[in-house]
Amino acid sequence: MVNLNDAGALRTLDSTGFFEALAGLGEQCLKAYEIGRKAAVPRLAEVRNIMVTGLGGSAIGGDLLRVYCQERLGVPVVVNRDYTLPAFADAGTLVFAVSYSGNTEETLSAYHQARGKGCPVVALTSGGKLQALAAADGVPVVQVPAGLAPRAATGYLFLPMLAVLEGFGILAGVADEVAELARELEAYRAAYGLETPEEKNPAKRLAQNLKGRIPVVWGASGTTEVVAQRWKGQINENAKAPAYWNVFPELNHNEVVGFEQPAELLRQLWIVFLKDSGDHPRVGYRMEVTRQIIEKRVAGVTEVVSTGAGLLARLYSLIYLGDWTSAYLAALYGIDPGPVKVIDYLKGELAKR
Ligand code: PA5
Repeated sequence: MVNLNDAGALRTLDSTGFFEALAGLGEQCLKAYEIGRKAAVPRLAEVRNIMVTGLGGSAIGGDLLRVYCQERLGVPVVVNRDYTLPAFADAGTLVFAVSYSGNTEETLSAYHQARGKGCPVVALTSGGKLQALAAADGVPVVQVPAGLAPRAATGYLFLPMLAVLEGFGILAGVADEVAELARELEAYRAAYGLETPEEKNPAKRLAQNLKGRIPVVWGASGTTEVVAQRWKGQINENAKAPAYWNVFPELNHNEVVGFEQPAELLRQLWIVFLKDSGDHPRVGYRMEVTRQIIEKRVAGVTEVVSTGAGLLARLYSLIYLGDWTSAYLAALYGIDPGPVKVIDYLKGELAKR
């Protein structure tokens, strides 16, 4: 276990520069938006729906896009985490094929399907087979810098898509929101960063609460749902630990009933409520009542409220806390946050078959 106040020890544990990448997220977001703005993506006359196909750290940007566009775009955005595309995908479906490495087999398969169905495709990648295929096929490529863990490249794997849609004239006002986002992340870097001691650092304190417990992260449909999913994935991949997520109001109709037994296992859960000013007001009440129902049965509860004006800044204010918390939780378990040997093993085994 690493002392979270020992920044040197944290850096030593971190073989891939994961903490440094986290610290650079604000700058990454600005660069990512510029990359998207400058990308040579021909404007489409008609977009009937948008599909983001990818996995893991390359798919969550699709969920961010889906949530961001929900009240801003007149066409649906769907996220596809599979080898195949749904039957409705056709020439009116703009497909973003997203793979940070460019080598994820499900995404390559979905890319081929999209081409076969006549969908206009944009590849978002740092290189690999996807970059090579798209270049050979004359498919527009938005190329982002390599060298990060995919889940540390969330700016690169999300914001270029917003810039492309803005370039098509179907989204507006993104530049101001990205500028606010970068300012927010800069401010939070000081609060959550390695040098800020535990007593003043909400991410380090929350990691201490989650240590030895099962985190359960609850968000709200339409806003923080994507953040809850992100927190779960980050705890899994960075701390190599289990975590679970769900959303209001749906969880009020099933999951909340399951807090009666086994009592000793329930006492291992730590519940995180994610709140945002854009949540439906009834969801706010639901969170209050739900907290009363479950609080005495679990190890503890943390409520986190987003900050910022625009939706981008608000969502990332919560994502950023989860990212740092998961990396500190890794350190508390003595785990290097960057490498994901199990995923590498799975990909290696699959490649043999
Ligand atoms: O964060 C990770 O390392 C994973 O979730 C990867 O993103 C996932 O395995 C897909 O790989 P890629 O992003 O290279 O397509």
